[in-house]
Amino acid sequence: MEMMDIGKAIKARHSVRQYLDKAITGEVEMRLRQEIDRCNREGGLNIQLVLGNAEAFSGIMARYGRFSGVSNYLALVGPRSKKLAETVGYYGEQLVLLAQRLGLNSCWVAGTYSKKKCAVTVKAGEKMVCVIALGFGATAGVPRKSKDMAQLHDVSGNLPDWFKAGMEAAMLAPTAINQQQFKVSLVGEEIHIKATGGIHSGIDLGIVKYHLEVATGRVVVSG
Ligand SMILES: Cc1cc2nc3c(=O)[nH]c(=O)nc-3n(C[C@H](O)[C@H](O)[C@H](O)COP(=O)(O)O)c2cc1C
Repeated sequence: MEMMDIGKAIKARHSVRQYLDKAITGEVEMRLRQEIDRCNREGGLNIQLVLGNAEAFSGIMARYGRFSGVSNYLALVGPRSKKLAETVGYYGEQLVLLAQRLGLNSCWVAGTYSKKKCAVTVKAGEKMVCVIALGFGATAGVPRKSKDMAQLHDVSGNLPDWFKAGMEAAMLAPTAINQQQFKVSLVGEEIHIKATGGIHSGIDLGIVKYHLEVATGRVVVSG
């Protein structure tokens, strides 16, 4: 199966809220499930794929969020801890970019869905942080505005090319209400990122961290 490369996927990904009535099956489903298993093992999470169940996106909240045709989603579940939101962001975005490479579209959703109607198992000590709508989009979505690069890092002087590439990928990362409330810095050659406030900024932090790592090939220190 031909897969889009991950750098292209970062550029091609936009939030999509309207989906076609087309099921996720076959090799696409299999590759998604393999990656979910890997993320769950590596991140100690309990992410679950829900297919063919529109209930969580049928109510007033989903309409308010202008969602339609959502019948597949990832439920992002894991053990309660201070780091859970960030961990979910970090691994959830790996699944978002894989979905894009497989020809699917997606949207992170923390507010405009019905949590109670999710077809998900949340064990004692666990929490469902949010979901990611998934499927074949009615459109590919549209590019949106970003803060300027200079607002998102505090490195002075000339930026190394590899750092610029990392920042470009960070600017393309989805954040809640497009708030982009993060700051990247360099400590020697090491990339650091911290959240600067805002709603769901822990999830955002993990998402942006993953984009930075993909684009620079370096490990990023967060917090
Ligand atoms: C943690 C998080 C939560 C989000 N929650 C919602 C939501 O409840 N409803 C919604 O319509 N979009 C939601 N979004 C999508 C953002 O609005 C979107 O990612 C942002 O505007 C940037 O646009 P882009 O994804 O097209 O780059 C969420 C995104 C993130 C990262």
